[in-house]
Amino acid sequence: MQVFKRSVYCGQVNKDLLNKEITLTGWVNKRRDLGNLIFIDLRDNTGIMQLVLNTKKSNELIEIAKDIRSEFVLAVKGTVLKRTPEAINKKISTGEFELIVNNLQVLSKAKALPFQIDESENVSEELRLKYRYLDLRRKRMHDLILLRHKVTFAIREFLNSKNFLEIETPILSKSTPEGARDFLVPSRLQPEKFYALPQSPQIYKQLLMASGMDKYFQIAKSFRDEDFRANRQPEFTQVDMEMSFVQEEDIINTIEDMIKFIFEKIYNTALKLPFPRYSYQEVFSKFGTDKPDCRFGLEIQDITKLFESTELKFLKSNIEAGGKVGAIFIKNQDFSRSEISNLEKFAKTILKVGGLLSIKITDAQKTESNITKFLPTDFASELQKIIPDTKNPGTLFIISDKFKKAWEALGRLRLELGKKLNLINSKETFNVQDEFNFLWVTDFPMFEWNEDEKRFYSTHHPFTAPKDSLETNDLENIKARAYDIVCNGEEMGGGSIRIHDSKTQAKVFEILGIDKKEAESKFGFLLEAQELGFPPHGGLALGLDRLIMLLGKTDSIRDVIAFPKTQSGVCPMMQTPSNVDEKQLKELGIKFK
Ligand code: AMO
Repeated sequence: MQVFKRSVYCGQVNKDLLNKEITLTGWVNKRRDLGNLIFIDLRDNTGIMQLVLNTKKSNELIEIAKDIRSEFVLAVKGTVLKRTPEAINKKISTGEFELIVNNLQVLSKAKALPFQIDESENVSEELRLKYRYLDLRRKRMHDLILLRHKVTFAIREFLNSKNFLEIETPILSKSTPEGARDFLVPSRLQPEKFYALPQSPQIYKQLLMASGMDKYFQIAKSFRDEDFRANRQPEFTQVDMEMSFVQEEDIINTIEDMIKFIFEKIYNTALKLPFPRYSYQEVFSKFGTDKPDCRFGLEIQDITKLFESTELKFLKSNIEAGGKVGAIFIKNQDFSRSEISNLEKFAKTILKVGGLLSIKITDAQKTESNITKFLPTDFASELQKIIPDTKNPGTLFIISDKFKKAWEALGRLRLELGKKLNLINSKETFNVQDEFNFLWVTDFPMFEWNEDEKRFYSTHHPFTAPKDSLETNDLENIKARAYDIVCNGEEMGGGSIRIHDSKTQAKVFEILGIDKKEAESKFGFLLEAQELGFPPHGGLALGLDRLIMLLGKTDSIRDVIAFPKTQSGVCPMMQTPSNVDEKQLKELGIKFK
């Protein structure tokens, strides 16, 4: 059978084709049989077109058409006609037309499907992923994949125009310290040795700067064996970039211009630049996180001062041990007993803090709470000095613990309240500027102390340059030349100016407890390169999947990846990971215990 050649896509049928003969190909989206007439919605990559089969006119057509079911693949020839006014479907772009079919080929049959395509949102994710190619036939999924393509294409267009070179770096690589576990690949040719899949192309891109490439980018696959979250995949994509002879400003400006360019392409709207910048210290003290959602208020306030001479035992002992008391005030908001009790449960079980205190401020500036009798008489007026808004009635939530723990808990409580009270995106009209709250966080601490392991870790990674001298005993106060870009409470990307001299690099390794021998064996090549003419340089990597999630307004990273893994790292379609042959293991010299 000679397959009919498509002359136009389903979604592109328009008035210019009226009364013309065309050939369409696609999947049967729906079929309605009205006896003499069979209606078929034919779907392709661009949309849906209604086919009409007049069975009175052709017995041959009836024979072929009678078995046609959803998801059969067809090629049809016919004439485009205008629908009668009452038959017009305003929901689809071709809704004014129909194709009167005079010839039809069934190119592929479909047996009963495991789920209906347009109902796949209601089936388990396991089943959706097992039949991912069916799930991807859905319009919403098509739109997201198309969006991903457009964004990736725009990124390439923009970076090319700024003289960035797209350079691929190895996947069979060596461990880079990005803070997650590595995926390892055993080597057959080098027995007992392993490659690591790159957690990012970090060291390669720095070495490309040492190679004189000046500006590099890559849409890079990165691999991290870490605990799953809604916004994480073990295999994800970074828009990775690096530039030579630059300062923070150059990188931040380039990224802002690129994001603006993407928004112009996708929404046809210009984002206002520059994005605001905040120091890590500022965002942590106000929002209890380094990736604040600033689309709403409810900032955290330090009210430790008000409890300095408190009789409340748990507050007193915490403050004496150097802890803090933080609060969030919600103006004009009263909570029922059961709402308060649910929030208390949330604080104890999810936020893992000792408890949540709440104080109601009444119209008459009275406090109502089960700790009222422990509050000093001037509590309300003193509180107003710290939180002027408490002149109004409302509810004050309080958490007391070590500073970091209390503020992180308050940060999460703030997000919970923001969602519960509908404070995020409450505006009715879509406005790109309100909808996407981009900001930069800078001045991160260079090192973080890990109490369990009694050692320092890099807040970013060990190749990040320090802002301050490393010759100090106050290591926790050294700032890094690092920056993160955040949107709507999600970390979209991070980067830094790098160390480009071996002395500073060796000192950082030393502070991180990596001794000379280990530094030499793991990063000797980098330390040497830093002694063979290394330009000052810096860069950043954006999480592409997260960016598409944001633009596509979906909560699941799996929606924006064609073939993602489940929460437990499995692909139910290909059944990966899978067992391998005994022979393969033998070749690799691997034996299971
Ligand atoms: P970082 O580790 O911050 O930086 O990663 C960059 C961005 O990648 C995204 N991301 C992820 N997305 C999905 N699944 C994951 N498991 C995942 N992990 C990270 C985030 C993050 O901001 N080499 C440095 C960049 C640099 O310094 O230039 C790096 O990889 O959006």
